[in-house]
Amino acid sequence: MAKPRERFDGNCNASDPWLTVLIETRDLRKDYTLGDSVVHALAGVSVSIDQGEFVAVMGPSGSGKSTFMNMVGCLDRPSGGTYLLAGEDVAGKTADELAAVRNERIGFVFQQFNLLPRTSAQENVELPLVYAGVPGPERHKRAAAKLVEVGLGSRAQHHPAQLSGGQQQRVAIARALVNDPALILADEPTGALDSRTSLEIMALLQALNRGGMTIIVVTHEQDIARYAGRLISFRDGRVKSDLRQTPRDAAADLAAYDGPAEAGGMAA
Ligand SMILES: Nc1ncnc2c1ncn2[C@@H]1O[C@H](COP(=O)(O)OP(=O)(O)O)[C@@H](O)[C@H]1O
Ligand SMILES: [Mg+2]
Repeated sequence: MAKPRERFDGNCNASDPWLTVLIETRDLRKDYTLGDSVVHALAGVSVSIDQGEFVAVMGPSGSGKSTFMNMVGCLDRPSGGTYLLAGEDVAGKTADELAAVRNERIGFVFQQFNLLPRTSAQENVELPLVYAGVPGPERHKRAAAKLVEVGLGSRAQHHPAQLSGGQQQRVAIARALVNDPALILADEPTGALDSRTSLEIMALLQALNRGGMTIIVVTHEQDIARYAGRLISFRDGRVKSDLRQTPRDAAADLAAYDGPAEAGGMAA
């Protein structure tokens, strides 16, 4: 017989060890009104994502991928349906409350890295901690540790222009990690990188995932999606398919890769 849960104190949050569902959307909808027509960018999306999953989101342009990520990332509010993040209903929160949820729980990674240009890697990584009100010495320590974790300990004082595209994306990943989020959301994280560097970034994301981090990646590349353990495909604002797969190992593929190395330069 299954052992009953030890205790429930009514405080349902991510620190509860038995809570495994991190993201739950039910009939999530987002409408945009353009003139007198309404675009159903999300037309009823119900998905459940557990802590520790690595999910790839795919689908043609206009299928609702970014809208879905914006909802999951608490960047925008749905027109209908519910969204529970770590058991907490976030659909009804104010803009300020959503900002707090983002800062505490979500790390964002973008195609174009979105680093501040005339600012060191170290300072870029510290930025979310500035917003969170973490004192200077603690900030420096935590940001430095995250740069080491992504393999850039020796580049802390470099500015983005002095780093390759892959290194810039590592800085962006360190920045996403610095608040110890529950979730990493990456929208086309390899879209501006060459094949080999893309593999490096996927190997890094897989390593983080093996350490327990929940990761959702939007990609239009099948080659990238195969490193995820689950593939959710969108079409016309709906989930068209949702499949588990055995992920390929990016580190192994990288070791076997014989294509050109990153030309040290910036991706376009
Ligand atoms: N801010 C907006 N205003 C109006 N329509 C939008 C807006 N954002 C997205 N849409 C529309 O919603 C649909 C889904 O867009 P999006 O989520 O960006 O798709 P994807 O990321 O899969 O390309 C598209 O038809 C798009 O034109
Ligand atoms: Mg998009």
